[in-house]
Amino acid sequence: MSDVRKVAIVTGASRGLGEGIVNGFRARGYGVVATSRSIQPSTDPDLVTVSGDIGDPETGKRLVAAALEKFGRIDTLVNNAGIFIGKAFTDYTEEDYRLKLKTNLDGFFFTTQAVVPVMLEQGTGHIVQITASTAEFAHSASPAFIAMLTKGGMNSATKSLAIEYATRGIRVNAVAPGVIRTPMHDPKKIDQAAGFHPMNKVGEVADIVRAVLYLEDAVFSTGEILHVDGGLIAGR
Ligand SMILES: NC(=O)c1ccc[n+]([C@@H]2O[C@H](COP(=O)([O-])OP(=O)(O)OC[C@H]3O[C@@H](n4cnc5c(N)ncnc54)[C@H](OP(=O)(O)O)[C@@H]3O)[C@@H](O)[C@H]2O)c1
Repeated sequence: MSDVRKVAIVTGASRGLGEGIVNGFRARGYGVVATSRSIQPSTDPDLVTVSGDIGDPETGKRLVAAALEKFGRIDTLVNNAGIFIGKAFTDYTEEDYRLKLKTNLDGFFFTTQAVVPVMLEQGTGHIVQITASTAEFAHSASPAFIAMLTKGGMNSATKSLAIEYATRGIRVNAVAPGVIRTPMHDPKKIDQAAGFHPMNKVGEVADIVRAVLYLEDAVFSTGEILHVDGGLIAGR
């Protein structure tokens, strides 16, 4: 790492994977801007919190303004905010559909679009999406049409952005988790998902943090979808 103090923006940062990713970047000495709807102010002077709905285009602009005002640069964006609504296809309501697309896709689109001009001006940057291994692995026991639509789209869009910016200093990657122990899941039931993965256990927040930080260091990797899923992507 050079002498320049690096800066990361992390969305969906109030709990679960986002909270772990914030802690991972802070442990490396990064300045961090963390956001979610319910996020609270921090006593850490190098952790700025911005509350807002990630599907609102203004939130991305406010994140960029906060990062530039406090730290003067943006090295990394982690598009982590997301929700999961698993249902039989015909049970999805219009509200489910709109909410999921707003949170998962509008958030990714508007936040990334706000950050890219800053990275282009710097000539360097790294954008990482948290997608889902299930986007490539339809399972008869857990229909997840909207997850596959949004996370599969984010995987493809990761490659699109990686190629668009490959010669201009911005790398774009994704981490595709299997089932990870976070508040998204009922703690009493999550271990029942162990058998979903060939390794017969669920993942932990630290597994995803490690993958994000690996991609951060992997300076010759762009357009990569890094699966952290106990072997699910390899087969059953
Ligand atoms: N855990 C898993 O098994 C798993 C597997 C595959 C993929 N993922 C993906 O990993 C990411 C993180 O999941 P997680 O397990 O950490 O979930 P989580 O524990 O439910 O946390 C979700 C985070 O997103 C924020 N969020 C939700 N809706 C938002 C909105 N409209 N605007 C702004 N922030 C919003 C929440 O904060 P507020 O409520 O304060 O807004 C929270 O910080 C998601 O994209 C998820 O799809 C998770």
